[in-house]
Amino acid sequence: MKQKPRFMNFAVDHMTLCLQPQLYTVMYAVFQILFGLTPDELLYEKRRKHKGGKEVSMTFANRIGRWESQSGNELDTIIAVVQPSEPLDEPSHVREMLDGHELASHWQHIALRTSDLMGFHKYALERGIQFVTPILRDEHDNLIQIFSGELFYPGSRASGLFFEFLQREPSDGELAELQKANKQTWFRDETFLGLYDEKEREYQSGKVRPLLSEELFMAISEKIGPRQVWELDEKALGEIEAIMLKHGKAS
Ligand SMILES: [Fe+2]
Repeated sequence: MKQKPRFMNFAVDHMTLCLQPQLYTVMYAVFQILFGLTPDELLYEKRRKHKGGKEVSMTFANRIGRWESQSGNELDTIIAVVQPSEPLDEPSHVREMLDGHELASHWQHIALRTSDLMGFHKYALERGIQFVTPILRDEHDNLIQIFSGELFYPGSRASGLFFEFLQREPSDGELAELQKANKQTWFRDETFLGLYDEKEREYQSGKVRPLLSEELFMAISEKIGPRQVWELDEKALGEIEAIMLKHGKAS
């Protein structure tokens, strides 16, 4: 096998997400809660001053994890690429994601690895986070994974961007527990196709599931009001989390 030079061993450094102002502050709050962020994990938050003195948040960065490489659980960095492969006269959610936004390219999902997917899934569900699939198993790659709803807000079109959460090397106990919980629905030999079919169904029906339901989004957005991200202190985040827990319980 051809030996690669050492400088060609890449790791995920960061992912940059552009969000409309309607989503920006809501996702700031939701990320704090969903990813359990501590104050030192807010790496920066930069502001711009408008004429008249009003300050607006420009950008922030969160460190959402720090992995130590373990043998058998190495953190690989992978780019997966998809093109619309359906004939032109057939529906294609991939084509729609691109054409609909007049984009030649588009980051579709970001995969975040956890060491306890079931624990994270339960935590996220309790807080009203929406997923488009149950936890799926990819036997070939020996991993379990789940896909979130897309990041958009009421009245905006579906963004075509979502999260994947995955766990590699699940234990036999975890697999048995999953199988029991999900009965026949969770097992798919080809998980890529499982997600693909689900997204195709969503796009054909015109009902794309968002990460936050319309109701939950509006409730968080109203709670935040005109506040900027730096004004969302622990108390405010606690109130937002309480709203999320209430919605998680109701759904
Ligand atoms: Fe993926």
